[in-house]
Amino acid sequence: MPCNCCEMENNTFGEDEAKANLKDYRKHGPAKQTKLILEAVRSLGLKNAALLDIGGGIGTIHHELLKDVASEATHVDASSAYLKIATEEAKRLGHSEQVKFIHADFTDVADELPQVDVVTLDRVVCCYPNMRELLKAASAKSRTAVVMTYPRDVWWTRVVVKIGNWFQRLRKDPFRVFVHPVNEMEALLKDEGLKRISTRRLFVWEMSLYQRNLE
Ligand SMILES: C[S@@+](CC[C@H](N)C(=O)[O-])C[C@H]1O[C@@H](n2cnc3c(N)ncnc32)[C@H](O)[C@@H]1O
Repeated sequence: MPCNCCEMENNTFGEDEAKANLKDYRKHGPAKQTKLILEAVRSLGLKNAALLDIGGGIGTIHHELLKDVASEATHVDASSAYLKIATEEAKRLGHSEQVKFIHADFTDVADELPQVDVVTLDRVVCCYPNMRELLKAASAKSRTAVVMTYPRDVWWTRVVVKIGNWFQRLRKDPFRVFVHPVNEMEALLKDEGLKRISTRRLFVWEMSLYQRNLE
């Protein structure tokens, strides 16, 4: 299936949105769904962990986890605008040496990346048509856990997304949002040796923590 990451970069995750996200983060801290990811990662009790944040946007997850849980992070993002803002913020926070930034569709570069302790995907699977390829590649990089947020798999999120995608088509913007079935994501991750440990829900977003089976 073709990736629409280039269109994402140009039309959807551009400079204005990145700047607005940074302003919001500096003023209010991490967004509610991102806080759920941060709490889930912290619940693992890791120290000096290596992180991989796929589609990390302005880099909130590594900005926060490098304070206590992590000692290094890799941030792969299809949006150069987001990566630019994330790089500047990491520098401001004194994290430049600890974060590696990669501008790419993660599925294109996954084979070249080392394994890490925790892989995070905050509101990313819903931007990507080929959920199976994305999650398979993500889980292969995780020694301990995969933590992600995605839209709740309920009838009304599917209706809202359908209407939103219809407007996208009218605007001739190829970016689409996807509500991937949660049971399919769980079955795929189970096949990859990851077990769902916890799930928390907000109005729109759901967070699940998947941990590698230890036995
Ligand atoms: C909705 S934004 C979320 C950004 C950030 N994680 C957050 O929650 O604020 C989706 C991000 O995922 C990135 N993205 C989507 N699919 C990707 C892929 N296959 N590889 C790398 N980045 C991807 C986009 O470029 C964008 O930065």
